[in-house]
Order: sequence, then C-alpha cells, then structure tokens
Amino acid sequence: MTGLGPVAWPPAPIQTDRLVLRESEARDRAAFIDLFASPEVGTYLGGPRPRDELERAVPGTPGRRPGLFVVERAGAMIGTVTLDRREAERAAGAAEIGYMFLPSSWGQGFATEACTAALAWFTETLPGEPVTLCTQTANTRSLQLATKLGFTEVERFEEYGAEQWLGVRAAADGMTTCSRV
Ligand SMILES: CC(C)(COP(=O)(O)OP(=O)(O)OC[C@H]1O[C@@H](n2cnc3c(N)ncnc32)[C@H](O)[C@@H]1OP(=O)(O)O)[C@@H](O)C(=O)NCCC(=O)NCCS
Repeated sequence: MTGLGPVAWPPAPIQTDRLVLRESEARDRAAFIDLFASPEVGTYLGGPRPRDELERAVPGTPGRRPGLFVVERAGAMIGTVTLDRREAERAAGAAEIGYMFLPSSWGQGFATEACTAALAWFTETLPGEPVTLCTQTANTRSLQLATKLGFTEVERFEEYGAEQWLGVRAAADGMTTCSRV
C-alpha cells in the first residue's frame, strides 16, 4: 500500500472517549516490535516476524508517515490504524483502512473506537471518498469489526492461499458502489 497523497499531515491528535490517535513517536518503537512479533496479530497477516530481526530492522521512529495513526491508551501505544491507497489490482488507488492492535487490548471495543475516529478524520479530510477494507474471511474479529464500522461486501476472492473479503464503506454523500473506488 502507498500513502494517501496530498493531505495535511499530521493532524492534531484526535481524542476519543478512551483513546488518542496521533503520529508515531520514538517511544512507540517497543510496541511496534511487539505488534509485528505477535503470533496472534500475525495469524492472518503472513505470520509473526522474529523479534531479533525486528530489533535490528525497525527504525528509531517506526511508522512515521501520512495515514498511519498510533492509537494510545493511558499513555501507551496499543495499536495502529492506517489509511492508505490500495496498490492491489482490485480497487487499485482506492483508500483502504487497516488495523492492528496488541492482543492485550482486544475485546474492549478499542479498535471500533479508534477506527471510527480515523474514518471521521478521513471523511473530513477527503469528503465524498469511499474507503475499502480487505481481510481474510477466517479473521472473524476483523470481519466483525468491518461490519460494525459499516463496511459491506463487494466481493470475495482467493489470494495468498486464503479467502479474502473486500468491503467498502460508502462516502457520506450516499455513494454505495465500488465503481468510484
Ligand atoms: C481485528 C482486531 C483489531 C479486532 O479487535 P477487537 O478488540 O476484537 O475489536 P473491537 O474493538 O471491535 O472489540 C470488540 C469486542 O469488544 C467488546 N467490547 C467491550 N467493551 C466495549 C465497548 N465499550 N465498545 C465496543 N465493544 C466493546 C465487544 O463486545 C467485542 O467483544 P467480543 O470480542 O467478545 O465479541 C484485532 O483482532 C487485531 O488487531 N487483529 C490482528 C490484526 C489483524 O488481523 N488486522 C486485520 C487486518 S485488515
């Protein structure tokens, strides 16, 4: 995936009831490594990466780029929400949301809260644009989250040896098809 394009970045930190969404900082490095090394997080994302390899390869301030929000809870990073442009053949160039949270934070509605805030920022920044989301159908937590966020199925297809689900969330102007994505 590639960056969102010409958007003003970073926005001011976004405060929700329980979370802050903000640009990445050097103090988030350990949590980034925990995310990439986690077998639970990697289950449907190609698997975890070895921790020693990550310690060598991860830059001092990981993930500092337009569209990547660090999600902070009580002063510590618990995950990321990204908004990028799809490079894949299907819906190429469309905005796409992605999310990864540390397993210790699952099951408390934090991903829903953070993604809702990130989508609101996106709609305010690029009004009228739909957002896509791609996830494995076996990733039930992710599919449930997608449904809660208002994504509806565009198609299912096989890729990387697994069934994938491509969904779209209509823009606020009521656009509901994928033809503009
Ligand atoms: C996908 C992922 C972000 C979902 O996390 P999650 O914590 O299940 O998501 P939500 O924020 O929607 O939380 C929902 C759960 O919180 C519960 N919850 C508790 N308090 C809540 C509250 N105040 N508000 C909403 N839900 C709440 C819900 O009942 C639900 O519980 P359940 O899991 O028992 O059904 C997480 O599993 C993850 O990071 N996976 C690895 C990365 C990945 O696969 N990403 C997909 C790539 S596209």
